[in-house]
Amino acid sequence: MPAWVSAELPRAVDRYTRGMPNPLDPLFAACPDRHGTGSEKWDRYAGRDLLPVWVADMDLVAPAEVLAALHARVDHGVFGYTHEPPEFCTSLAAHLERRHGWQVDPQRIVATPGVVTGLALTARLLADPDAEILTFTPVYPPFLSLPPLAQRRCVRVPLLQQPTTWAVDWAALEAAVSPRSKLLWLCHPHNPTGTVFRHADLLRLAEFAMAHGITVVSDEIWSDLLLDEEHGGPRHVPFASLDHPAARDAVTLVAASKTWNLAGLGCAAAILPTAEMRHRWRIAGGGLVPMVNPLGYAASIAAWTRGEGWRRRLVDLLRHHRGLVAAAVDAVPGLACVPADATYLAWIDCRGTGVDDPQAACEAAGLGPSDGREFAAPGFIRINTACPTERLEEALRRLRRAFPRG
Ligand SMILES: Cc1ncc(COP(=O)(O)O)c(C=O)c1O
Repeated sequence: MPAWVSAELPRAVDRYTRGMPNPLDPLFAACPDRHGTGSEKWDRYAGRDLLPVWVADMDLVAPAEVLAALHARVDHGVFGYTHEPPEFCTSLAAHLERRHGWQVDPQRIVATPGVVTGLALTARLLADPDAEILTFTPVYPPFLSLPPLAQRRCVRVPLLQQPTTWAVDWAALEAAVSPRSKLLWLCHPHNPTGTVFRHADLLRLAEFAMAHGITVVSDEIWSDLLLDEEHGGPRHVPFASLDHPAARDAVTLVAASKTWNLAGLGCAAAILPTAEMRHRWRIAGGGLVPMVNPLGYAASIAAWTRGEGWRRRLVDLLRHHRGLVAAAVDAVPGLACVPADATYLAWIDCRGTGVDDPQAACEAAGLGPSDGREFAAPGFIRINTACPTERLEEALRRLRRAFPRG
């Protein structure tokens, strides 16, 4: 276990729980049973007393505003081939300006059925075969698996684990780059650590990218779930909004899916810098990447235009849940967790517990987290906290049971 943990973590717990009322928001008090709905999350452990806290969707019902838009679209009754309705691009542009102060020409926006699809397309479009794609680890598994699937190389640059944040290791980044490096896949905010890269870091990354002729692809799917924005904490700065030449060439990927729990509707957006790239993007996906479905558009538009009240209440819940996790982690000797700036994920370092296989230990105790090995980080687990508070409390009881000294 890193030396700082025992001294620093209790202070961190205090900071994240003190004075924070338990919101117990009735909006998020319960979730319908997801068994029998083809839920990836719940079917993994079907038939076992095992609480799934792995894949990143929420055990929460989407906002009423989104459900109303879906009902209205269903009532129309015709579901033919559908390209981006103009409101898809204008509502996303308005959302980005309102939330992040970023002005985007709606014409730069192209719909895609997923952010992962968008990442896969950038590998093929912007990097030749055998080119290298740099990425910070630990990281959301497709960042590791997509480059080899596209016959490109993934170059891992480990982030530095520090007491209150995960930081870019600039020396490691410089050491990793080569003339074959063509892309930097940035996960911003970062999954699984919940790190929000600050303005100065982003500018330094932009300098780095320009110096080495690298295009930055910024996955900003988590950018509407910053937990401390309203309390003087970090705000999200879209990489492409920087005043820097590397930002003007960057590709940004966003979606309403994480924030409003719409992942199964398959709808995301790429913000592409040039008309030429937008043209090539559509051709590259032709015949392989399906069109986005009409319900995905309806739900995303409703979320961006009418989902702000719900989003704020969700952030309050997630901030509270971050505190509960921090307190639970603190109670188990050997566990450590740098509290996330964003997301509903807790990235827990189990290496100090003496347990060789924390994933197996959790499953034996009735808890199903994500296994750190999939993120290039053995000895870690990732817990999804987006569920009714009672369920999270049960998950944390099981976490405690998983480790003998807990
Ligand atoms: C960083 C990141 N990017 C992309 C995705 C998935 O996006 P999509 O479902 O739009 O492919 C996730 C899901 O957890 C994620 O965490």
